[in-house]
Amino acid sequence: MASPCWLWLLAVALLPSSCGAPALEHLGAPAPVPLVIWHGMGDSCCNPISMGIIKKMVEKKIPGIYVLSLEIGKTMVEDVENSFFLNVNTQVSTVCQILAKDPKLQQGYNAMGFSQGGQFLRAVAQRCPSPPMVNLISVGGQHQGVYGLPRCPGESSHICDFIRKTLNAGAYSKVVQERLVQAEYWHDPIKEDVYRNHSIFLADINQERYVNVSYKKNLMALKKFVMVKFLNDSVVDPVESEWFGFYRSGQAKEIIPLQKTALYTQDLLGLKQMDKAGRLVFLAVEGDHLQFSEEWFNVNIIPFLK
Ligand SMILES: *[C@@H]1O[C@H](CO)[C@@H](O)[C@H](O)[C@H]1NC(C)=O
Ligand SMILES: *[C@@H]1O[C@H](CO)[C@@H](O)[C@H](O)[C@H]1NC(C)=O
Ligand SMILES: *[C@@H]1O[C@H](CO)[C@@H](O)[C@H](O)[C@H]1NC(C)=O
Repeated sequence: MASPCWLWLLAVALLPSSCGAPALEHLGAPAPVPLVIWHGMGDSCCNPISMGIIKKMVEKKIPGIYVLSLEIGKTMVEDVENSFFLNVNTQVSTVCQILAKDPKLQQGYNAMGFSQGGQFLRAVAQRCPSPPMVNLISVGGQHQGVYGLPRCPGESSHICDFIRKTLNAGAYSKVVQERLVQAEYWHDPIKEDVYRNHSIFLADINQERYVNVSYKKNLMALKKFVMVKFLNDSVVDPVESEWFGFYRSGQAKEIIPLQKTALYTQDLLGLKQMDKAGRLVFLAVEGDHLQFSEEWFNVNIIPFLK
């Protein structure tokens, strides 16, 4: 039923690849830190033109690395459908179980989430400290949610229209919250109290329903939290959410950066301490949602995976 919307990564596929991989590490060198990838909306773990390319790009630069691209469900089709319709809290606990059972991850792993996969992996870091996540890389993730759905990646228009209508009709009703992924990070700044009381996912991980001290402790265990923002993003509204900024509460015009939010000033998640210690990394890249070149990826992202 779900039509694929992963064409956005074609641009990456068509770029000429840069020069070859470095020579293999000499024998006895420690194995590279494994990498866990979580795909975005309408995508799947193993699509050769999206996450498949990313996996190859990483393997080329870090020979011998174990890359786990998460599949939510039993098939690629289910994986795509679940990115729209499976309760995010269920998805996060499923992923926690997958990671806990994987013998290759027990010494720790890096995590890289694309679009909504960025905030979902942050939830994994906050809720499931074992095995330990080392670096978290959020590529176009929406850490303060979205208020608008201008278009879906890859123009999957009928699903997108359906989701938009449902969100407008009642994103915070119980039935919609439990069944529509995008409603679970829908953040209405004008009705902030309704959002706080009824958002079953985003308001929880952002400490807005109540403060869970283990969320802060667990997030602060990260070495680095890298957030990539796409300067010409036409999918995420507002784009500043990719750097944890959002509309100032009560209106939908003025946007404030993370550093001016209560989450930061009251340091409810440890982000202020991490920022002061240079452990938050804000990267900006010119281009639309999830559009980057292999060269940009190699220069800016690969160093966090080594
Ligand atoms: C806080 O989060 C942890 C990890 O997800 C969970 O086990 C615990 O029940 C939460 N505490 C409260 C008070 O919700
Ligand atoms: C939100 O919950 C609080 C505390 O239970 C309550 O006082 C308030 O009326 C609720 N507001 C909305 C809009 O649901
Ligand atoms: C992308 O956005 C940046 C910052 O707003 C702007 O300077 C640049 O011209 C834009 N590039 C394109 C191709 O639209």
